[in-house]
Amino acid sequence: MKKIIVAIDGYSSCGKSTIAKALARYAGYTYVDTGAMYRAIGLYTLRNGLTEEADIIAALDHIQVGFILVDGAQHVTLNGEDVEGYIRTLEVGNCASRVSAIKEVRAFLVKQQQAMGEAKGIVMDGRDIGTVVFPNAELKLFLTASAEVRAQRRYDELIAKGEKPNFAEVLADVNDRDYRDTHRAESPLRQAEDAIVVDNSHMTEEEQMEVVYGYFNRFQ
Ligand code: DC
Repeated sequence: MKKIIVAIDGYSSCGKSTIAKALARYAGYTYVDTGAMYRAIGLYTLRNGLTEEADIIAALDHIQVGFILVDGAQHVTLNGEDVEGYIRTLEVGNCASRVSAIKEVRAFLVKQQQAMGEAKGIVMDGRDIGTVVFPNAELKLFLTASAEVRAQRRYDELIAKGEKPNFAEVLADVNDRDYRDTHRAESPLRQAEDAIVVDNSHMTEEEQMEVVYGYFNRFQ
């Protein structure tokens, strides 16, 4: 069977990674969470107190981002350290959003992401996968859901992790992040012209997966 590239883009907290992981499992493909790569760099800047753009760019020479499999789950590594347990906080998410606006950071990660897709058979999720990383991807999905629905999902995730979030703050954070992701000068989040939009505000995970598997199966 011919292997393809599946590019999944969309707003934060709209379930991209859940869909991408499930589709990768279904297809027997490799899954790559590019948000985790930006988060790893965000974590590096936080740990090292880097706030100036020039310092962050200079630090790229000392940063290696990778992935390892731990009990079948993909964990992101920062200079060889498994940092999966540290990157999913609001604080690191905000740092990731900031570093992701820097052209040099994007070029650094995009190059690595393109190399990962050379053999195809990959499901990659992020913000610029269908527009910049793989403009020729065979299947492009653009996921969306209302800000309130996404804030509720993020809120539930944080509660499940033992954090004590405030819903209004989480919603404000979702709106801020959307604004930054869609208004930055470098590779802003936008729907590729040939992307299929999936609005999952009112879909169950099963309903969504049925839709997504349907699109994937057109290529088989
Ligand atoms: O998907 P996420 O929330 O883990 O992404 C973290 C941040 O990284 C988010 O603010 C947007 C940014 N990002 C990006 O600019 N490009 C990508 N391909 C993936 C994520």
